[in-house]
Amino acid sequence: MNSDQICNQSNGNEQQQQQQQQQQQMYNSPTDLINSVDSIRLKLTDDWKLLSSIYDLLVDEKAFCTASHEWNEKIVQFEQPKELKKLIDLKIDENKSLTMPEIEKICRQIIKYSISELCGYVHGDGIFSPGGSISNMYGLVLARYRRHPNIKTGGMFGLPPLVLFTSQESHYSLKKAAHWLGFGMNNCIEVATNERGQMSIEDLESKILDIKAEGRVPFFVNATAGTTVLGAFDDFEKVANICEKYNLWLHVDACLGGSALFCYKYRQLLKGLHRSNSFSWNPHKSMGAPLQCSLFITRELELLPQCNSLAVDYLFQQDKFYDISYDTGNKSIQCGRKVDAFKLWLMLKARGYGSFGHLLDYALDISKIFVNKLKQRKDHGFRLVLDEFQYTNVCFWYIPKHLRNLEETEEWNNQLYEVAPKVKELMIREGTLMLGYCPLQYRNVGNFFRMVFTCFPIINDSELDFILDEIERLAEQCHKHTSNGFV
Ligand SMILES: Cc1ncc(COP(=O)(O)O)c(C=O)c1O
Repeated sequence: MNSDQICNQSNGNEQQQQQQQQQQQMYNSPTDLINSVDSIRLKLTDDWKLLSSIYDLLVDEKAFCTASHEWNEKIVQFEQPKELKKLIDLKIDENKSLTMPEIEKICRQIIKYSISELCGYVHGDGIFSPGGSISNMYGLVLARYRRHPNIKTGGMFGLPPLVLFTSQESHYSLKKAAHWLGFGMNNCIEVATNERGQMSIEDLESKILDIKAEGRVPFFVNATAGTTVLGAFDDFEKVANICEKYNLWLHVDACLGGSALFCYKYRQLLKGLHRSNSFSWNPHKSMGAPLQCSLFITRELELLPQCNSLAVDYLFQQDKFYDISYDTGNKSIQCGRKVDAFKLWLMLKARGYGSFGHLLDYALDISKIFVNKLKQRKDHGFRLVLDEFQYTNVCFWYIPKHLRNLEETEEWNNQLYEVAPKVKELMIREGTLMLGYCPLQYRNVGNFFRMVFTCFPIINDSELDFILDEIERLAEQCHKHTSNGFV
């Protein structure tokens, strides 16, 4: 699947609808989905065995090359990239998962030929980066370069301030990037959000007009697919309309929610993503790829190399004997890099991207079941932060017995906000459960639990009950052991 195919899947034309219908036939009912997810779960132990066989395989293929008598042996076999594509089956299928021997064979081939970039994009461009914060920076640097190419050599001197917009619920990396890239944090404008945590389109437009009236220059809007705390998805179609109207670059921080691209049932969360100029996506979040695994993808052809490349002939030699378009290093901000693409490609190759679609649909389904359980346990002290969540994040409080049925004063709230950190402390000490907590300061709301479901671990219904029972047990135990409540 290339980047364009990915983006266009959220574009509701007829062909895609047909495709989606076909795909949805893969499971017709929630039971089908659970069976499918269970079959993945059953094979997990085999997957872990792969780790030990990979080590044996690396030794076998002499990848470590520690013995001096092996130093004159050939360890990498060169093939022209075009030939390599014929030798190694790079294509990722939706439904085809590989057996262990097949995976081992591919790993062996990769070691043998040792190629570095495995993404087969047809249109657009992309690069793996060390994390979502850096991927978001790529978006800013590209947008700035498209507007003012001379900045690459002359810097930003003498220009009016360039301004970016992002919602108040978006990730802090945008603000940090504004500082690092010399825009200044005051030129990173926070846009208000609605009850669900989505960017307010009215506030966005009004702030763009205000900034223009001040003589500053709007150039970039960051929308979010899956905000860190509430998992909110902005309305990309509406944000894109504004960006087109004012000629602004639209970047989508899809670090958390980008994996919904694989969903069958919930892909519409990303509707309109194809209209963005770029997006960031962290498979190390919802998909469970090993850290760090982050992509920056843009639909702007040629812009990445134009913006980032330098004529560094001592490293990026132009007179090599093979097609140097496969040397992607100069598009990157880094010099030395790991083969970041490999782990994601291998995950998709081994299971087929359809399996991840099932796992992600399941993660969303189970998060909704969790919400229902929380609602059912209302009388047992559980209270949701929102009635409904768009993605796999579920945020909630636990109200201990001694705080129930009391007037909810400021003091009461302060006591409630101490519950999650104290329970978390006990969780760490007892080691039975790990669950994060956070406040939402701009909503004037204190600490609550934040459960984010991902592809792995695959959690089932009864395990959800364990989580809630355990929170209840730990919270009450906490209160019992401290005569002054949670203080
Ligand atoms: C929405 C969002 N964007 C970006 C990031 C930053 O990603 P990274 O930790 O890979 O820099 C995060 C991390 O939590 C995030 O939730």
